Amino acid sequence: MSQESHTTIETKAGKSPVAHTVPPALEVSEISKSFSHRRRETRVLHNVSLTVEQQEFVSIVGPSGCGKSTLFHIIGGLVEPDDGVIKMNGKFVTGQRGEISYMPQQPALFPWRTIEDNVLLGSEIKGTSNDQAREAARHWIQKVGLGGFERAYPHMLSGGMQQRAAFLRALLAPQELMLLDEPFSALDALTRSEMQTWLLELWEENRRSVLFITHNIEEALLLSNSIYVFSGRPGSILHKIEVPFPRPRREEIMDSPEFLRLKRQLSGWMREEQAKNRTPRT
Ligand SMILES: Nc1ncnc2c1ncn2[C@@H]1O[C@H](COP(=O)(O)OP(=O)(O)O)[C@@H](O)[C@H]1O
Ligand SMILES: [Mg+2]
Repeated sequence: MSQESHTTIETKAGKSPVAHTVPPALEVSEISKSFSHRRRETRVLHNVSLTVEQQEFVSIVGPSGCGKSTLFHIIGGLVEPDDGVIKMNGKFVTGQRGEISYMPQQPALFPWRTIEDNVLLGSEIKGTSNDQAREAARHWIQKVGLGGFERAYPHMLSGGMQQRAAFLRALLAPQELMLLDEPFSALDALTRSEMQTWLLELWEENRRSVLFITHNIEEALLLSNSIYVFSGRPGSILHKIEVPFPRPRREEIMDSPEFLRLKRQLSGWMREEQAKNRTPRT
């Protein structure tokens, strides 16, 4: 089912029930950013605005170097934007840390911590780690096929298994909004496809608000409610599409004419953008 742009709930407060609107999980408004290095300025993001509604899965696709990871750093409060603001659940959080759970581009498991302790890291940092959190971690470790590896260290796991552990760490962190930065880019095609199906099922069972960066158009179409297409650097939003497939989704949708049509459209936009970036500037 596609998400409404706003979710309306009824409150019990007051004499007459008042319908009011739940603010989006994330609102990025008119963000711009340049970096200067040895007196040369690189414009990385230009006037980027996007929204992730509550429990919505939103993807960003765009050429490499167009500022996608930088945008995540800005949302996470690690980098200050030059212009623009970030709101989460209706509150301004520009420059604040600790509001999101983040899975960086490289699976950054701590080598000296066991898988279980890596998965529990988010709640530990937030001070919400307790027996219940540990039990939840064990439950999910089993569920994602890492049962028996609770006490193992990251180097004992394959790349795909490490990704799953890193993903679980983001999933079980207490923050509502998850930012996933190309989580499957280091995996071979088969493992990647398995991980996509796994993430799809997991997300449909345990809905979180997700902002997902990927290069892979099929992956974006399979998983997302909506997709933003970024231009080359400085990254700005060229297009936004709503993905119409009902949920729960299965991989079979990838063979449907509508899926292929959307895939063609998105690939066309991406090719145009890449061609523009190859054209020498005069
Ligand atoms: N801290 C930084 N200082 C200077 N330049 C940076 C910094 N972080 C990113 N950049 C530059 O910003 C551009 C966009 O990088 P990035 O956000 O990683 O792109 P993407 O994730 O879309 O591939 C690159 O040219 C990169 O070199
Ligand atoms: Mg990146």
